[in-house]
Amino acid sequence: MNYRPKTVSGRVALDSGAWRPKWASWLELRAICRLEREVFLDPISLSAASRYWLSPQSGYLVVHDQGNLAAYLGLEVQGASAHILANVTDPRYRQRGLARFLLNVGAGEVRKLGARWLMGEVRASNHIQMHALERVGFIAAGVVPRFFSNGEDAILYWWMLDPL
Ligand SMILES: CC(C)(COP(=O)(O)OP(=O)(O)OC[C@H]1O[C@@H](n2cnc3c(N)ncnc32)[C@H](O)[C@@H]1OP(=O)(O)O)[C@@H](O)C(=O)NCCC(=O)NCCS
Repeated sequence: MNYRPKTVSGRVALDSGAWRPKWASWLELRAICRLEREVFLDPISLSAASRYWLSPQSGYLVVHDQGNLAAYLGLEVQGASAHILANVTDPRYRQRGLARFLLNVGAGEVRKLGARWLMGEVRASNHIQMHALERVGFIAAGVVPRFFSNGEDAILYWWMLDPL
């Protein structure tokens, strides 16, 4: 399967304004890891991000603004299941709908690759991400105690892409 097209097709109808999502190139992994270090307690290493990039099953959707990485969404597809690796908006670009935009674009992309649901683990304290996920269609499916390295619980979020 071709999981890394140069540009994302516009299949998902969105009020996207000027945002132009695409799959990250190898050269953009450093910027992704830099943002990870800025926002996460457990940022991904460049080697781990490279492994995701090299895998035909995973990749990073990115949005740029004048050369700056404004936001990214890491996704991994395994059969019918797609998993969110990370969903990050640079602090300078927050609250403009970028996370929701990338989640909707990502859902369209993984669906084309055969995924029928999307899931992700969210820190129990991360109410902003929970709200963003719920706004696009995710529901909270359960709690995973002490999922994160600092002992924090995860809330498992689920989005059926073909609801009944
Ligand atoms: C969570 C995160 C990705 C949201 O990115 P964003 O681009 O600002 O999100 P959006 O602009 O698409 O907003 C989505 C919803 O959350 C709300 N929201 C976003 N930031 C908010 C804030 N600081 N306070 C209150 N609501 C907020 C928005 O208003 C919007 O809700 P609405 O549609 O009802 O208006 C961003 O805050 C971030 O990168 N956080 C650090 C990394 C992280 O925790 N990622 C999630 C785990 S992988």
